[in-house]
Amino acid sequence: MAHTILIFGASGDLTSRKLIPALYELHRKKRLPPQTRIVGFSRTDFTHEAWREKLAGTTAHFVGKDFDAPMWREFAQSIYYHTGDIDRSEDFQSVGRFLDGLEGDAGALRVYYMSTAPRCYGPAIAQLGAAGLAGETNNPRRLVIEKPFGTDLATAQELNRKVHEVFAEHQIYRIDHYLGKETVQNVLVLRFANSIFEPIWNRNYIEHVQITAAEDLTVGHRSAYYEGVGILRDMFQNHLLQLMTFTAMEPPARFDANAIRDEKVKVLRSVRIMKPDEVHTDTIRGQYRKYRDEPGVPAESETATFGAIKLHVDNWRWQGVPFLLRSGKAMSCRTTQIVIQFRPAPHMMFEGGPRSAFESNRLVIQVQPAEGIQLHFQTKVPDAGMKLRLTDLSFNFRDRFTGSMPDSYQRLLLDVLHGDASLFSRADEVELAWMIVDPIQHGWEHPGRPPLELYEAGGWGPPNSAEWMCRQNREWFDVCPVLA
Ligand code: BG6
Repeated sequence: MAHTILIFGASGDLTSRKLIPALYELHRKKRLPPQTRIVGFSRTDFTHEAWREKLAGTTAHFVGKDFDAPMWREFAQSIYYHTGDIDRSEDFQSVGRFLDGLEGDAGALRVYYMSTAPRCYGPAIAQLGAAGLAGETNNPRRLVIEKPFGTDLATAQELNRKVHEVFAEHQIYRIDHYLGKETVQNVLVLRFANSIFEPIWNRNYIEHVQITAAEDLTVGHRSAYYEGVGILRDMFQNHLLQLMTFTAMEPPARFDANAIRDEKVKVLRSVRIMKPDEVHTDTIRGQYRKYRDEPGVPAESETATFGAIKLHVDNWRWQGVPFLLRSGKAMSCRTTQIVIQFRPAPHMMFEGGPRSAFESNRLVIQVQPAEGIQLHFQTKVPDAGMKLRLTDLSFNFRDRFTGSMPDSYQRLLLDVLHGDASLFSRADEVELAWMIVDPIQHGWEHPGRPPLELYEAGGWGPPNSAEWMCRQNREWFDVCPVLA
């Protein structure tokens, strides 16, 4: 069957930076289904040829050394452009006719990709419905929605309601690009394709779990978006909670979309909702010192660019094991990692043994950029009596496998074309994530909120964050990965 991908918001940044490079790479690797056509829809006027020209330049830039001009020309034959405005119903009628013409009598499986500003999702979806473009009588129709899915529980529910008026849940693919990362999927492989980890993956052996998503980048030119959003909505509601569900979920019976998502939803349902006074004790807010100098940021901005939160999962496996999540902009390096901190050995008979609980075993899952896994354990230092030292067994994807790590959009786009929703968020999942984040966001926005501590760029966030861990008798794993 032929496939058509219609991209709304085609002249935007995401299309040129992520979507077209990923589709080009899939074409280069011969993974795109035959007869896949890509149609851009946006207000800016382009001819097919002018749009292909523009994308040739941006794709060459973002793909880098794997860009191959003859291959691009071959791929570009399947790219088209249709000028249109989301507010004009006649433009939806006309793009419908254009697609019918391209696809011919046999028709095609269609993917509608929402890459517009989030406020346009609802109107564009309603227009698709009104123009009769969502029905699956002849061929499948799928809808991809980019993050953010709402800005809180109420708006997410409202968006789900609007989407469900037009599309059935099986047609909807809500993107969280973290799920397209190879190392995030590898968390499932590590846990469920090996037998040695599962028996110790619980409160009996694990003291706490840390999940860090640090970025060295500042907010820069994105302040118009970021100012009203902040770190909780930008990183926690989606990416960090997704990493947490993969780490905490029970083994699904099958590797299929509903089995996996059912288990993730169970984790989210077990997360204890934070009470107002706990927002004080269990969260940290920070802002990097130069944030208020960024263009467009008000001088008195209270937007957090760093956050740390402690969550509890109230079920048998995780009772008493906190999940410590943190994320920040302008940190010392770019690193996303999951640290499983095990309990200390019950009795230490060696005098030269670990000096703190933090030197107990830990498993570090490096999500990016030094994709790999390290297991830390105590070893005898040779020729030094019974002195011990924490050392590690290290696995690195780049050492063991050839080829570069694909961008997550390659996997996600291919899954949409194949109809596999395992790596996409279901309606209930998105809403549950907001239920966890909303009380914290609320507590951060209201009088009596935890102090917003300023921090210097290039470190590990506000000093308060380390002190908070220290008060819990814990320590952040503040290590920048070594890139080969
Ligand atoms: C996006 C956020 O969802 O994820 C950005 O909006 C953030 O603020 C980005 O920089 C991080 O993604 P990655 O894949 O670079 O870790």
